[in-house]
Amino acid sequence: MREPLWGVSVSTMDAKAHLVPDPIPTPPPSRRRNDAAEPRVLRPRRAAPSDCVRPTRAEVNLAALRHNLRVLERHAGTAQVWPVLKADGYGHGAPAVARTLERAGAKGFCVALVEEAIELRDAGIRAPILVMGGYYGDAHEEILERELIPVVYDPAHLEAFARAALALERPAHVHVKIDTGMARLGVRYDALAPFLDSLASHAAEIEVTGLMTHLSCAEMGQLGVSPEATTEQLARFEVACAEMARHGVRPAVRHAANSAAVLRGDGLFDVVRPGVSVFGFAPRLGGDGPSLSTELRPVMRVRTEVVDVRSLGVGEPVGYGATFRTSRASRIATVPMGYADGMSRAVSNRGAVLVRGRRAPIVGAVSMDMAMIDVTDIPGVTLRDEVVVLGAQSGPAGSDVITVDEVAEAVGTIGWEVMTDLSRRVPRFYREP
Ligand SMILES: Cc1ncc(COP(=O)(O)O)c(C=O)c1O
Repeated sequence: MREPLWGVSVSTMDAKAHLVPDPIPTPPPSRRRNDAAEPRVLRPRRAAPSDCVRPTRAEVNLAALRHNLRVLERHAGTAQVWPVLKADGYGHGAPAVARTLERAGAKGFCVALVEEAIELRDAGIRAPILVMGGYYGDAHEEILERELIPVVYDPAHLEAFARAALALERPAHVHVKIDTGMARLGVRYDALAPFLDSLASHAAEIEVTGLMTHLSCAEMGQLGVSPEATTEQLARFEVACAEMARHGVRPAVRHAANSAAVLRGDGLFDVVRPGVSVFGFAPRLGGDGPSLSTELRPVMRVRTEVVDVRSLGVGEPVGYGATFRTSRASRIATVPMGYADGMSRAVSNRGAVLVRGRRAPIVGAVSMDMAMIDVTDIPGVTLRDEVVVLGAQSGPAGSDVITVDEVAEAVGTIGWEVMTDLSRRVPRFYREP
């Protein structure tokens, strides 16, 4: 037997033990809320296989996650890797992902929301957690009590965290965000003075432990040549860091790199913040060029099963609005996954899934809970056959894979959105091969 995985023993001998649920520990009583058991973020549903009546589910491969961390660590060189686990770990379930990565050596994590950071602390994560979204409501004291690191860039942030630090009689550790050309969050690289003044007046309460910026075009440019916009942003970041240092702000930690930058080796500094690549998706050069890495392994596989198969004659309509009509005698199968699960309506009459190891086109409009597929060319499709919506499948009719890239293209979006679109109605199961 190997070490118990979140209370579930995983035997290397028992093939059935490969799919394990992720029991979320009961959160410790909160000092600030009476209803401590009520989650602040809606989690994807996690269920044991026996609780999962509908066969639609996402399998999260924890070994692939660890592999991707090692790949990113190699690219990061001496910089620490702090995986970005916002949006529930890009849809994979942040607590289980964070526990796996922390055990595998991740030195810190980044999230967007205070709520997401608290979820990770409640799940037992002890590593530093950076809260990047910039919105703190009235949670300043709770952030310091939980030892979360807020990202600040506005004198109002400094005032609020200084008050919280005084109340708790401990300094607030913060990372300062510099806007070097993204125009989203951060103090502008060329207008630091008012912020530095405010920082000076709160020197006793606020300790700047990190400086950061965010790159807007890291996947652009040519292979082997950094994008001009990135070079410019990094130069501005250096200027801002030097200006900070002149005012006595010299934190040990600086960070800038998202997945594309890590994979290109741009702006590695002391910490890197890869998100999507942790989950096996490498950004493409220019958005649709060659992939920036072939070493990463996809972490998620989404599968369901055929729940109906019927034979139709020529010219018969399929689905809402009859947007598909059979052009031949056809076998049409129904799968229990629809747009409420994260299968976008945009894949209606465009996307494909895998059955028996072969591609079956999605036909008709995807409905809320179901979609229809054309299995005429796949011999022997029957009730309960596995249908793969994302990931690989081998079967009697062949072997194939539906990639995040392929779905993104069919939907007309980016891989990041495909991952985060999978709704909480689809239970996540954690696979420990
Ligand atoms: C500030 C910040 N850093 C890092 C990341 C990670 O980006 P990626 O998923 O492209 O690696 C994000 C995600 O958008 C982000 O907002």
